[in-house]
Amino acid sequence: MKRYDLRARTDQLDPETDYEEMSRILAAQEFPWDINQALSFALFRTYAVPSIGKLLFSTGEFTDRVQKRYDDTSLILDAVLEHGLGSDQGRSSVRRMNQMHGSYDISNDDMRYVLATFVVTPVRWLESYGWRPLTPNEIAGSTFYYRELGRHMNIKDMPTTYDGFAKLLDEYEREHFSFDPGARAVADSTLELMCTFPPNNLAPKPLIKAFAYSLMDDHLLEAFGYKRPPAVVRALSRGALKARGRLLRFFPPRTARKFARDLPNIRSYPAGYKVDQLGTFPTGCPVKHVKPSEQAQA
Ligand code: HEM
Repeated sequence: MKRYDLRARTDQLDPETDYEEMSRILAAQEFPWDINQALSFALFRTYAVPSIGKLLFSTGEFTDRVQKRYDDTSLILDAVLEHGLGSDQGRSSVRRMNQMHGSYDISNDDMRYVLATFVVTPVRWLESYGWRPLTPNEIAGSTFYYRELGRHMNIKDMPTTYDGFAKLLDEYEREHFSFDPGARAVADSTLELMCTFPPNNLAPKPLIKAFAYSLMDDHLLEAFGYKRPPAVVRALSRGALKARGRLLRFFPPRTARKFARDLPNIRSYPAGYKVDQLGTFPTGCPVKHVKPSEQAQA
């Protein structure tokens, strides 16, 4: 296979009907590492919205079992990608997500914003660091894919185009990003986890953290109270990723598809897993509601 063969294949696909196959080619074959990185960094963006970061902190899951949360998120979403929304695995995944989300008081606006991070951040990552950017046809296919996922998650008033999602994301972040100590704890915990991912685990932790901060924009860093990295560190980190992208132009495309379960950073299930057993099984609201009588005693 030649370098542009997969792009030639997505060119032949119709974004409105073939969005699942197109997303599979992009996320599992053409750009598995880049899209995984983009979505891992997108997690931080979602934490920086206090209503999201606070809830994730209050369940205790991202601070106590961060590896499992990371793995379950990837595996649940990947089952939809691999098998399709209409498959048994895809339906089990959506059911699991809807059960979890249904246990909490989550606004449609927050759901829509998180969906927008899935649509927009891979496109922006690949524009900056990919061996090639996505084509307009691929961007349209990916947008259709996430709109369809959003429809199954009962998310209302979704934008209809990529540009609509990008506008929504930028405006939501401008309006909502701000500091919250719980969100910061969730971000710290996720960053610690990323330092343990192979091959990051071979490098000194401060170096990996400096690299990660360098990929975050100032608005995001400010929301967590993280220090802005020196300009030279930022330039070196981003430059290294761009150089990787340029180098990859000379490599042939991947012939076998690579799904989340094949990634070395997914480590919770060496003996395998069933999709309907992934995720959490919440029994109630994690936020402590203090009764007026207890408040009076305090
Ligand atoms: C399109 C939007 C979203 C998608 C695709 C999504 C996806 C997922 C997935 C795959 C899981 C299961 C992974 C696991 O076990 O950790 C999960 C769990 C969870 N999600 Fe979402 N999510 C979305 C939006 C949101 C929003 C907006 C919030 C909060 C405001 C949220 C809060 C949670 C919580 C609390 C859990 C249970 C795990 C925990 O306690 O941390 N999600 N989500």
